[in-house]
Parts: sequence; structure tokens; C-alpha cells
Amino acid sequence: MEQKKQAVKSFYENTHTYLGQDYNIRIRSEIVTAFLADYDTFDSVLDMPCGNGMISLQNASKFNALTLVDFSKNMIKETKANAQKLMVENIQTICSDIFQTNFSDNAFDLVISLGIFAHIENPQRLIDELIRITKPGGLLIIQNTASDHFYGKLIHFYQRIKRKAGKSTYTLNKIPRKWLEKEFLKETKLLNRYDYNQSFLGFSKLFSNEKKYTLTKKLFGDAMNNKNRWLGSDTIYLFQKN
Ligand SMILES: C[S@@+](CC[C@H](N)C(=O)[O-])C[C@H]1O[C@@H](n2cnc3c(N)ncnc32)[C@H](O)[C@@H]1O
Repeated sequence: MEQKKQAVKSFYENTHTYLGQDYNIRIRSEIVTAFLADYDTFDSVLDMPCGNGMISLQNASKFNALTLVDFSKNMIKETKANAQKLMVENIQTICSDIFQTNFSDNAFDLVISLGIFAHIENPQRLIDELIRITKPGGLLIIQNTASDHFYGKLIHFYQRIKRKAGKSTYTLNKIPRKWLEKEFLKETKLLNRYDYNQSFLGFSKLFSNEKKYTLTKKLFGDAMNNKNRWLGSDTIYLFQKN
């Protein structure tokens, strides 16, 4: 397995590092709920990568069939446990690399793919794959942290300091907002977006998840009233495939 992929896998197998930041999962889940508010049901839905599954599982009452994919065995374990807790039954979990799933063209009415562009080795291939497996007229919910935004640049600067100090060995991909939007808009149209920040940089440990949730919502509002968007390097997009 390639070096970068192995580093990502090891990081996420140790689930508590990411899941400890669950205010962000809560915000993502709420934004997905808001984006889907005007839709009744979806026949086939994919959440890839799913992490602990909470984002799609909490919206599963609208999904006739839900497939959740992640290459971390421990994340898939969390997903199964959460599905049981939430009593969601119509799911299929697949422990696999995104590029080894072999879904057919136009397989899904809705594809949710959050928290992956910073980690995948080939972002262009991921965009092509996500669009390929979405039905024409189907929806894609995508997230990116913009490396061309001043706050995104601060995040990369902070990561570099951590690496220099030996506190991290991992390098996040730099994905410019302009590039990602241009690539998606070749085959989709933009229906909605939510701009915010998911990183408290070196201050994260100072606040509880509840506090970080409240502060983020206070600064950026909710999906229907997204405030201070210029400050947000993170965007959750709702695209519709042409
Ligand atoms: C930041 S988390 C996002 C999880 C979830 N979508 C969320 O927003 O909470 C990234 C997830 O991607 C998974 N992942 C990273 N690279 C992957 C790949 N190549 N194939 C499958 N899963 C991958 C990790 O195991 C991890 O669970």
C-alpha cells in the first residue's frame, strides 16, 4: 500500500483521534439534513468515506437503501454499532478503499463524500469517480478545506510547524477551492453551500466539543442563514449531476 494511504489508514484506525472532534460530525450531519429538507426519499444512497457513519445514519429515514464505505476496519465497526443504536436497518457496510469498490455507473441517487479531499492520493480521480457513480439528476454532497483561503493557509502553516516540532508526520493535500469547484461544475450544478471553519488550530484543546459547536454555529450560522462566509475555509457543497 502506498505510503500516504498507509499513513491515513493508521491515523483513522485509531478512531478516537478523529471521533474526539465530534462537534464537526454534528455540524456536518445537520448541514446534510438541511440540504435534504426539500427532498422526500432517495432510493440508493452512498456515504463514502463514512467514518463512524453518523452523518448519513442520522438522515437515514429518507434513504431506502444506504451503503457506507470506509477502509478503516475500526470506523466500520463504529458505523455498525451506531446503526444498531439508531435502529437503522437498511444498510450495507463495505470495508474497502474508495477506488476498489467497483460501483456501476449511475448507481446512486445521492452520494455523500465528506472529509476526504485532504487525504486522498488522487483528488481528480476521486471527483471523476464520485460523478461517475451518481445518477444524472442525482445529488452529491461534498466537502473541502480550501488551501487557497487565508484560514486554509493558516491550517497548512500550523501543520508544518507541528511536523517540524515532530508532533505530526502527516501532510494534508492542498486543494484550492477554485480548482475543486471548476472540476465539479464541468458535470454538475451547484444547488447550495455552507462555508465555515472546522479547525481551531492550536486552540482546539482549550474548548469542549459542546463549546466548539456553539462557537462555530454562532459565528457561521446554520445552512439557511450562513453568516461570515468569507471567514470560512471549509465548504460543504450540494451539487446536482447534469
Ligand atoms: C475525516 S474522516 C471523514 C469521515 C466522515 N465522512 C465524516 O465527515 O465524519 C476521513 C475518513 O476517510 C477514510 N478514508 C481515507 N482514505 C480512504 C480511502 N482511500 N478509502 C476509503 N476510506 C478512506 C478514513 O478511514 C476516515 O474514516
